[in-house]
Order: sequence, then C-alpha cells, then structure tokens
Amino acid sequence: MKKILLISTMLISLLVAAQNPQSLKSGNSGMNTFISNLMKKMTLEEKIGQLNLLTPGWGIPTGSVVSTDVEKKIKEGKVGGLFGVIGVVKIKQAQKLAVEQSRLKIPLIFGSDVIHGYKTTVPIPLGLSASWDMKLIEHSAREAAIEATADGLCWTFSPMVDIARDPRWGRIAEGAGEDPYLGAQIAKAMVKGYQGDDLSKNNTLMACVKHFALYGAAEAGRDYNTTDMSRVRMYNEYLPPYKAAVEAGAGSVMSSFNEIDGIPATGNKWLLTDLLRKQWGFKGFVVSDYTSVNEMTNHGMGDLQTVSALALNAGLNMDMVGEGFLNTLKKSLGEGKVTQKQIDDACRRILEAKYKLGLFDDPYRYIDESRTLQEVLTTQRRKEAREIAAHTFVLLKNNNQSLPLKKSGTIALIGPLANDKNNMLGTWAVSGDAQMSIPVLEGMKNVGGSSVNILYAKGANLSDDTLFAKKVNVFGTRIDIDKRSPDEMLKEALETADKSDIIVAVVGEASEMSGEAASRTEITIPESQKKLIRALAKTGKPLVLVVMTGRPLALTEENELAASILVTWHAGMEAGNAVADVLFGNYNPSGKLSATFPRNLGQVPIYYNHKNTGRPSAPNSPKFQSNYLDVPNSPLFPFGYGLSYTSFSYSDFSIDKKEMKPGEKITASVTVTNDGNYDGEETVQLYIRDVVGSITRPLKELKGFQKIYLQKGESRKITFTIGIDDLKFYNYNLQWVAEPGEFEIMVGANSDNVNKENFRLVPGK
Ligand code: NOJ
Repeated sequence: MKKILLISTMLISLLVAAQNPQSLKSGNSGMNTFISNLMKKMTLEEKIGQLNLLTPGWGIPTGSVVSTDVEKKIKEGKVGGLFGVIGVVKIKQAQKLAVEQSRLKIPLIFGSDVIHGYKTTVPIPLGLSASWDMKLIEHSAREAAIEATADGLCWTFSPMVDIARDPRWGRIAEGAGEDPYLGAQIAKAMVKGYQGDDLSKNNTLMACVKHFALYGAAEAGRDYNTTDMSRVRMYNEYLPPYKAAVEAGAGSVMSSFNEIDGIPATGNKWLLTDLLRKQWGFKGFVVSDYTSVNEMTNHGMGDLQTVSALALNAGLNMDMVGEGFLNTLKKSLGEGKVTQKQIDDACRRILEAKYKLGLFDDPYRYIDESRTLQEVLTTQRRKEAREIAAHTFVLLKNNNQSLPLKKSGTIALIGPLANDKNNMLGTWAVSGDAQMSIPVLEGMKNVGGSSVNILYAKGANLSDDTLFAKKVNVFGTRIDIDKRSPDEMLKEALETADKSDIIVAVVGEASEMSGEAASRTEITIPESQKKLIRALAKTGKPLVLVVMTGRPLALTEENELAASILVTWHAGMEAGNAVADVLFGNYNPSGKLSATFPRNLGQVPIYYNHKNTGRPSAPNSPKFQSNYLDVPNSPLFPFGYGLSYTSFSYSDFSIDKKEMKPGEKITASVTVTNDGNYDGEETVQLYIRDVVGSITRPLKELKGFQKIYLQKGESRKITFTIGIDDLKFYNYNLQWVAEPGEFEIMVGANSDNVNKENFRLVPGK
C-alpha cells in the first residue's frame, strides 16, 4: 500500500513539474517564467481561487465562520491554501484533491498557528521573550519548523510581533512584550528559525509576520478594538519589529483586524502598499486575518463587494476564510472596481510562495509519514522544551534565599495550578495535547527525588466565578470549579501547610485567560486565589509563589505576602519539570521581564521608554507634577528586571570618548562580577537617551544587550560598541536621522538600574 502511494506521489510530482520543465530552474528568472506560463493557462476563476484561504473546521476556528464545501472548491480550483488541517494524513488527502483532481493541479499551501512549538509546546512567546536569548528563540522556532513540516505543514502564522504595552490585552501573551528593539531582535530570530536558509527544504516553514499593524495598541486593551496613533510613534515605537521581520525575509505578512488612521488595516493602501511594498520592499504575499475582509463591513466601509475590492486595491493578496475575494472579485472586475492586473499580481504572489516552498517540484515535499514518526514529539525535543522553559522564568523576589529549595524536608505544594495538566501549554497551542504535559506536582517528584516529602492540596479554584469560567472554558475545561466548597479546600490547604517546612503555591491565570479575545479589566490574580495566598501567608511559614500567567500581572499584594515569587508564564508541555528544575536549583533562573509589571491597573499603559512631560515626576513636590496621588509613577517591576539565585555587581563603567563624529564608534564598557553563591547568567542591558531633539525623545531606549554566563566569583568586562545607527530615530518628517548634541549611555541590570555616562555627537564626516 505504502509503495503504491509512493509511486503515485512520484508520478504526480513529475506531472506537476512537467507542466513546465523550467520549474526545475533555480533563481528568480526560472520562477518568473514558470509562473507566467502557468498563469497563461489559468482562467479568471482559477486566479481568484488562488487568493482563497479556507479552513475546513478541523482545527480551532477563531471566528464565527467556518468554510464549507471545501473538497468541491479544491477540485474546482477555487482554493489557494488551507489552514487548521492538522496531521499528515488529512493534509495529504487535501493535497491529493488539488494535484489530482483540479484542472491545473496547482498544489495547496498548508498553514497553521505554530506559535510556540508545534506538538512539543514550549513557553508562550511572552515567556520566550523573557529569556532575552536570541539563539534559544531561533532554535525553538527551528525545532517547531522541523516538527511542523514533518507533520505536513509548510506555513506558520507566526511570529506575532505586535508591540503591547497594555496587559489588559490578552494577546500580549503571543508577542515579545513592549520594546521595539528587543521585539525586532526576536522577530529576526524567529523568522530565521522558521525559514532557515532555504525555504524549499522540507524542514523549513514559511513565516507570516502578524498582525500588520499596530494590533497591540487596541484601545483599552480590548481585542479587535480601534487603534490611533501618530506616525512618529508608529515609526519609532511600533513598526520596528515588523520591519525587522520583513528584512529578515519573512515570506508572508498578515494584516490586522484594527483600523489605522480610520481605515482598517486589511483595506489600508498606505499600510499594505506604500509602507510595506514601496518603503520596505516586501516581496512576499499579504494574507488577511480571519474574515478581516468581511469585517470591514462592520467597520462601516461598505458591503462585501466594496470591502473586498478595497482590500485588493490596498494590496491584500489572500483572503482568510471570508471568501469575499472568491465571491465578488469577478463582478468587481466587470464593473471596473478592480483591475485584471491587481488580480494577476495577487495570484502571482501566492504562486511565487508555492514555488519558493518547492511545492511545484513536489507537492508532497512536506508530506512524509516516516518523518512524522521520527520527528514529532521526540524525547530529545521534549528535553529541549524543558530546558527552553527553564530559561524563560523570571525571579521577581527571593527573600532570605527561600529559593532554591532543599531536596529534603517537607514541602506543601498548594494551588489550583499545582497539579493541573489543562493549563500548562498556554494559549494558542492548537496542536499540543494538554494531557501529555507535566504538571508541577509530577515535576517536583521527578526532580526532588525520594529524600523530599511533597504534600499536595488544591487550596482554591482558579476562579469561583462560574460565568467567567464558562467564557474561559470555550476550548475545554481550563477553570475547573471544584465540587468542594472554597472553605473546605482552604481548610485542607492549611492542614497541608501545617505539616510542612515551606509552602510553594502555584497560582495565576488559566491558559485561556490570555490569548485571543481574552482581555481582562483586572490584571490581578483572581480573588479566589488571593484568599488562599493571604491565608497561607498568615501561617508564618516561608511562602514561595509560582505564578503562571499570560500577561504582566499587578502583584502588589502578593509581593508583600510572599518570600519569593517566580513568574513562569505558561511554559508548555514540560512546564512541571522545568518549574521543579528551577525551584530545586538545577537551573538558576535568568529571565528578565520584556514587559513592565505595574503596581495596579490604573498605571496602564506603563512602559519604560516613556517621555518626560514638561512636569516630570518629582519626589518631594507632588502638586502640579505628572504624578498620581495614590501610587508612585514607577512600576512594581520594571522592564528588564529579573533576579538570579546568585548576585551580580557592576563596576568600572566607562566610555572611551566624550565626543563622536558620524563615522566613528563609541565603546562603553563595564565589569560584571558574579559575587554570589551560584554560577549564573546575567543579561547586561544598554540604553541610550537622546537628551535634546527636534522632537521629544524617550528617557531611555534599549539599544543592545548581552546574556552572559559567569561562574561564582568570576568577573568579565563587557563592551558595547555604539555607532551612528544606534542614535537614529524617525523625526517629524519621518526621516531616519541622528541629530548632533548630547546623549546619555546607560548600562545596567534592568531599565531602572543603570550606570550613566554622557557624550556629544558632533557634526562632521
Ligand atoms: C485569528 C488570529 O488573529 C490570527 O492570529 C490567527 O493566525 C488566525 N486567526 C488563524 O488562526
């Protein structure tokens, strides 16, 4: 049977390649000729068909519409690609329909949301970003690509690079946090990881940069909401990660749901053509988000035909799920509302992507069951997922060195997330199997061994609110409201705590309390768990909090009550083992926050790279300054913050000159010493401030970082080289310039703890 399949697969490959022998030619001219020849044979309907991306509803739909008659449409040449089809068997069936039963046998492209790992899930992207480790992030994308392509996919809807400064927005979980520089580095690393050096290899995945653009700036943190900002802010603070991903060669871009300057991104010509294509030179294709073409009707842009024409005119090439292109473009062409060239251009972009992926040479390139067996969910990959996870945890507090835990005595492991498989993977883990994940209790037993006694009690529900739970539980139980009353659970927890030497409470958010359409107006740990934490603190035993979350939380109360706080995000299928590795000191935590943790929600939006105002906060004169009456301006934990079990000191900070001419470089150096009791890693951060500018400039901006490993007692001199590009910004006229004058260079352990030196940029060649 296998043999027959193989032969028929080979025959089809030959057939497709034989449509035009030049398909085997490499380089752009080979591709252009092949596609031109193919397009000569295509009818208008077939061209429009290539612009149609459907989901047969076998995955997780993220809107109310699910595609119908998919098989029939594939055979009729009315589908360009599919997503949400998981598994090589189903993908093969669908590809066979396209290459055996459609007239021109054009292969389909298969996409999916491979967001943080494929079946071997790693931490949510916000967690990955907290590693500040570009090699690790690139590697995790590479691993995801190998695994996903081994299961038939060739396209991922990742990376999400939306800058987010509002933790109410649930999708902050899917991005790299608040900073344009860090975000840009991560965007590049992920594109490189997914796409490798050759898209046509059977283990590389085409990236899709999303959500273009500004999706993370949704008003009030409510998903899909309006965004509105100045071009200066856009260019300097929100666009850099998208641009970096495009420059790294991302094959596709997804337009966002939100509007920009009053026009939804999906129909915004300035965005999709002037900026993306003309200014940035993007060569790939642009796909809409899920029904975002149709949704422009709700935005008030007209009926389906009007908005579909608007999108094509704007520069959109592929329509996800909504079928506005499929059902209206022919009519619009007849009525002169779109041109043949626009349809041809869009079709060409899709065909080019398929060509680059090697699908015309072999439509089954990514469909190889033997690879599925060898590459998916391997022991090695799980081992790496565990290591990756440990690198993302951020230690926010560690009084009296409560951590690491001793592998002896009795530990009370308490909390609704302590023995829970359903919430380990995190949001947007569509192909992961939560039941394969390791909960913390299991991990603690694995790592702690037989000399430590671990007692468990649930202690509280994630939330006692049944209506809230119902909304969170749309993809299955995430908030499991216990049959026992909260009082009974609390009683059990206190009895368990009473028998122990130390309490570890695993608390926080259910995985679907963040992610798409999961915005919150409170960013605290739910009240049911707060009651538990308060009661545990009252026992007087040392209290360690392990906080699982998909967003920055306001942990002000917890910070007062607990001895130690370790933020672990949602860490993927190896979460429990990784948490135990860190708690028991097998791995010394090294994560640093990529998004500010505020004191309370009222401070939001709060981010480190803010401007000064004319009346900056002044400690002793609160009236008529830019302050709050009730809390300081400073966050609870700043961007870049994170502790280690060891300690690092910074000394001998200096810069090598006080004046710099445009062609020159300045070197800043600092000595970092591990003066604590453990070997460990530190992320040394470089910030720059442009003190006087033609427009107002942020108080500091991240411009470099180095993650280093120092043995206990070891010192190392770290240097940063600063060139003219590090001083540039987009001015009022959106020109990318460095303005002569005074600058500050800051180096330190986080955005709020830096050494400072000044220099002048002087005019000259
Ligand atoms: C909607 C989401 O906004 C997007 O990120 C995702 O890739 C698509 N659905 C497809 O699942």
